Amino acid sequence: MAGHIAIVGAGLVGGGWTIVFARAGKAVRVYDAAPAIRNGFLDVIKRQLDDLKHYDLVDDPAEILARVMVCDSLADAVQGARFVQESVLEEVAVKQEISAAIGPLLDAGAVVGSSTSGIPGSAFTEEVANRERFLVTHPVNPPYLVPVVEVVPAPWTAGEAVEDAVVLMKAVGQSPVLVRREIEGFILNRLQGVLLREAWDLYEAGYASIQDIDKTVSEGLGLRWSFMGPFETIDLNAPGGVADYAARLGPLYHAIQKSRTGPKPWSDDLIAQVDAERRQSLAMDELAGRRNWRDRRLMALAAHKSAQNSAHTAEQDT
Ligand SMILES: NC(=O)c1ccc[n+]([C@@H]2O[C@H](COP(=O)([O-])OP(=O)(O)OC[C@H]3O[C@@H](n4cnc5c(N)ncnc54)[C@H](O)[C@@H]3O)[C@@H](O)[C@H]2O)c1
Repeated sequence: MAGHIAIVGAGLVGGGWTIVFARAGKAVRVYDAAPAIRNGFLDVIKRQLDDLKHYDLVDDPAEILARVMVCDSLADAVQGARFVQESVLEEVAVKQEISAAIGPLLDAGAVVGSSTSGIPGSAFTEEVANRERFLVTHPVNPPYLVPVVEVVPAPWTAGEAVEDAVVLMKAVGQSPVLVRREIEGFILNRLQGVLLREAWDLYEAGYASIQDIDKTVSEGLGLRWSFMGPFETIDLNAPGGVADYAARLGPLYHAIQKSRTGPKPWSDDLIAQVDAERRQSLAMDELAGRRNWRDRRLMALAAHKSAQNSAHTAEQDT
């Protein structure tokens, strides 16, 4: 389908999506309600592209930037678009209002994906014009380094819109995961939620320090998780595969599950305790620098994975 990509909401995530689409050769039109964000947008993108260039993850930052146009109105960005990626604030009322404004501006066949981290699309698209072309396309931050995107249709989303979104995401180098029907938190944040629940509970009960709980992932589980998921992990971790693993360790996991009844919110005291410890390891004014460090580590990892994937493909071709 012809037409450009529209980015609505140009904060952290909207900026990331802009790079995903422009890097893949798409013309991108961007709109944000805040004039200050619009004015500074191209500088922000340029800095991120220069970092990507440093890791050989893009060829020509200037060429990519030239595909990006910042618009002063929602209509200028959305009209004529084939796909709209909405990334405004994570509040149902704000999502409702922007979806209602986008709906009537859509060209025939255009699809709208929301970046929402966990609100089902049906909570904010039920009443909008062309609601059958709205769905969720939930990225991980920053989407130009972490390719997974959860595609989640609302009950009224047309099958064609889902297919278009999946095809487009693949075409721009993302890895779509189809969530067949709506569930709060989708897949990614539900998996993360289970891990976080254990992390908070284990810390609260004094089983280990924050650093050691974090290290269990960064120096342990996470190393495998950068190239395989939980099912493949357990399939490889018993001589007879997943069924053998289940026979050996199923009872342990059942016992762990049974030990965790009674869901409760993270308490204010516990949050304050974790915050105090984290701020001792990393002062508040060092957070931004550490985020940049994380993004650079992710860039190095993305470059490594891309080289490994090419080597793997070459091996298979010979
Ligand atoms: N930050 C993350 O790690 C992350 C990851 C995945 C998904 N998301 C989701 O992406 C969305 C955006 O999050 P973010 O972190 O980029 O937030 P952000 O605050 O950085 O950006 C939101 C932008 O939306 C703009 N905006 C607000 N109302 C608008 C409107 N009516 N029209 C146009 N622009 C408007 C704001 O001016 C702001 O620039 C949220 O739904 C969030 O849950 C965030």
